[in-house]
Amino acid sequence: MPSGMRWRLTAWVAIVMIFALVITAFAVYNGTGSQIRRDVDQELRAEMGEFAQVLHGAGTRADAARRASTYLTSQPFGAASTLLFATLPGTGVLTNQPELFGLRADDGETRLEQRSEATLAASLLRAPAGISTLPAPDVGDLRLLRETVRAGGVAVHLGVGEPLAIVARSQNGVVGAFALAGALALALALAASLLVGARVSSPLRRMAAIAARVDGGDLRPRMPLSESGPADETRVLAESFNHMLDRLTAAFEAQRSFIGDASHELRTPLTVIRGQLEVLAAERSPSSEDVVRVERLVTAEVARMSRLADDLLLLTQAEQGEFLRLDDVDLPDFIEDLWAGVSATAERRFELGPVPSGVLLADSDRLTQALRNLIENAINHTTPPSGLVRLDVQDLGAGRLRFELADDGPGIPSEQRARVFDRFHRTDASRSRAAGGTGLGLAIVKAIAEAHGGRVSVRESAGGGALFVLDLGGFSARRRPAGAFERLWS
Ligand SMILES: Nc1ncnc2c1ncn2[C@@H]1O[C@H](COP(=O)(O)OP(=O)(O)OP(=O)(O)O)[C@@H](O)[C@H]1O
Ligand SMILES: [Mg+2]
Repeated sequence: MPSGMRWRLTAWVAIVMIFALVITAFAVYNGTGSQIRRDVDQELRAEMGEFAQVLHGAGTRADAARRASTYLTSQPFGAASTLLFATLPGTGVLTNQPELFGLRADDGETRLEQRSEATLAASLLRAPAGISTLPAPDVGDLRLLRETVRAGGVAVHLGVGEPLAIVARSQNGVVGAFALAGALALALALAASLLVGARVSSPLRRMAAIAARVDGGDLRPRMPLSESGPADETRVLAESFNHMLDRLTAAFEAQRSFIGDASHELRTPLTVIRGQLEVLAAERSPSSEDVVRVERLVTAEVARMSRLADDLLLLTQAEQGEFLRLDDVDLPDFIEDLWAGVSATAERRFELGPVPSGVLLADSDRLTQALRNLIENAINHTTPPSGLVRLDVQDLGAGRLRFELADDGPGIPSEQRARVFDRFHRTDASRSRAAGGTGLGLAIVKAIAEAHGGRVSVRESAGGGALFVLDLGGFSARRRPAGAFERLWS
């Protein structure tokens, strides 16, 4: 369904877009996170360097403790600053955040808060050397760097920490921006694909409507083709659709006239038969001569009808393929039998040119029928006893074989030459003749030629009559047996 196609296209665009957006958002989210974490780590190392620098050169343990305290007092802990702490043997914890380590009471805190702060403080002091991440109750995660330096003759354990809340905040910001931009881009893409889908599917919908009308029996509608429109696939489709309808119309027309002609041809003998039977029935006691005459006439008409039926059947079979039974036909034998058969049927000047030696891949019965139809026509259009009927067979090379049948009759006017191969087509001259055929003979010749992959045409013969040319493939010439001279050297 064309409108379904439009929605399917839109759905696919939406799926692909959402997928792409989610992947990009995920990559940017992670990228932002690790970038900021790297920055935080760098900052921690700088802070640690500064802190260690302060202790550097302390003479005694007490001097180290004093320097640390002074430094910590100068770096009070605030919302955006760093947590600093140091432990010296015998001194306990020194820090710029005494509430956290329980060194100073914070009146506003509940017992629960106090307990979780104590847990955090313990894990801060226990954390291994180097960088680690600890969960902190209020600030999300805490990034911690621990190092041990020697100052005043003792090992001083230092700790520098920073909350990672900023990472989460930046990441959330990125996701928010992405969600907004993504939703906007998605809406635009969906609108665009709906529009494109509508543009692409509208000719298809029109075509479907026309096809439905054709299905209902109306062959007239065609796709409109604007001269200025782009020469894209839709136009090509519309053109072939119209072309197909033209051909369909022509085929229906041909079918209709074929059926009309066929029934007309069948009606003629039936009328004759009925007339004869009525004449016979009108007589009270018909003489035996009358009966014999009517029997002769009726038999002739019945024979005519059955030939017509056979011809029609053959033409129908030829359209359906699998019509030929191909076999190797020995050409000289085949032509000799054919010629002997036809030349005995009438008194004419029959001439047969030289026949090339070889084998033709063909259906010999059908080929006989085609050549007989041509010969019969030549006989019918020439006068006894000296009317010329001549057959020439030529090897054209590359497996092609040509039959030429010439006569010295009236010939076929050039404007009729293409149409004599149509079914039921007779030239005016032969139509007026009472004993004319039905006009299927040459249509059968053409069908047989084409079934063999060949073709047939007509032109004027040297004697001014008709010359029918039948070209076929599938010929293999037989080479002459090697002569004594060649045998000697082989
Ligand atoms: N050798 C010929 N010389 C002149 N006209 C010919 C010749 N062969 C065919 N024609 C013309 O072509 C027409 C079609 O020939 P075709 O063999 O198809 O039909 P037909 O001979 O009239 O009938 P059918 O062969 O079915 O008995 C003939 O009616 C005749 O007018
Ligand atoms: Mg004929």
